[in-house]
Amino acid sequence: MDFEHIPHAAPVPSATRDEALANPGFGTLFTDHMVVIDYHADKGGWHSARVCPREPIALDPAAAVLHYAQEIFEGMKAYRQEDGGVALFRPEANARRFNASAERMAMPQLPEELFIESIRRLISVDRDWIPTIEGGSLYLRPFMFASEAFLGVRPAREYKFLVIASPAGSYFKSGAPAVKIWVSSDYVRAAPGGTGAAKTGGNYAASLVPQAEAIEKGCDQVVFLDAVEKKWIEELGGMNLFFVFDDGTVVTPPLTGTILPGITRDSLIRLLREEGLTVREEAYSIDQWRADAASGRLVETMACGTAAVVTPVGTVAGHDGEFTIGSGGPGQLTSKLRDKLVGIQRGRVDDTYDWIA
Ligand code: COI
Repeated sequence: MDFEHIPHAAPVPSATRDEALANPGFGTLFTDHMVVIDYHADKGGWHSARVCPREPIALDPAAAVLHYAQEIFEGMKAYRQEDGGVALFRPEANARRFNASAERMAMPQLPEELFIESIRRLISVDRDWIPTIEGGSLYLRPFMFASEAFLGVRPAREYKFLVIASPAGSYFKSGAPAVKIWVSSDYVRAAPGGTGAAKTGGNYAASLVPQAEAIEKGCDQVVFLDAVEKKWIEELGGMNLFFVFDDGTVVTPPLTGTILPGITRDSLIRLLREEGLTVREEAYSIDQWRADAASGRLVETMACGTAAVVTPVGTVAGHDGEFTIGSGGPGQLTSKLRDKLVGIQRGRVDDTYDWIA
């Protein structure tokens, strides 16, 4: 598909941009451009691809997304390489997951090549926005929503696909060596047969009240339990979990349809197995987690995701009290894995997996 290119008439001046890039934080700073592609079921599908100035979008107040939340998104990063180039990490995995989410939300498929080309086009016009600071990257947010003005409940016939980009530093503001997480006993994130495996806004909306509860309790993130028995650990508000045991085994909750199939999760499973460790995708309960932390059998817990990368979990709090994992700080394996993953993403470690594109 041809892309029209409409450059920004008044891009952010380079001195202002460079000052902002010295400390980008997460999710508040945006680049000059965006990609937009329209979809009309009655006009042959996807059309009018363009890279244009980032600006507010006009929407009819009856647009279906505003009423029935027909929306999906992805999160991925572009990394500045040692040699000055720019690399993406497993973009085809994001493209595939985007279409899996689209299927669950009754939305049209976007050809994988078009998804990846959109990302590349945006990076090529806004590449000066990629932070060069240690740990910095350009966070890319492709998303699709139902734009048809129609109040009946059925899949919309019109959509918009957009990509915006946001220079990013660390996801967690606290800068603490390990995060503290709150076990939500009153709320669940997803139920069997629901939309838990789709990257759709509603899952994140459902996490906001429990996340606020976590913050109120002095924690950084909320961890959800399964909706049926309220016993099995699922995931955090926006990250998957791994549990490391003293015998060299690692456990992560299985993909049963209620948790997000994380691309970082999948990459870590592969890295761990290549380290010779046994990784089991199996259910692990909150009671067992507490008991294993107390006995010392559990030595580390890590949270992972595109935004969070690999983050150690130091303390777990809930209505039944608190427990600490290992020393409460970053564990050895967590640090090693993070270094390896970040090394591959930045071109410092040989990419024997063909993940860099
Ligand atoms: C990501 O890691 O890309 C996500 O979408 C999670 C979100 C909490 C920022």
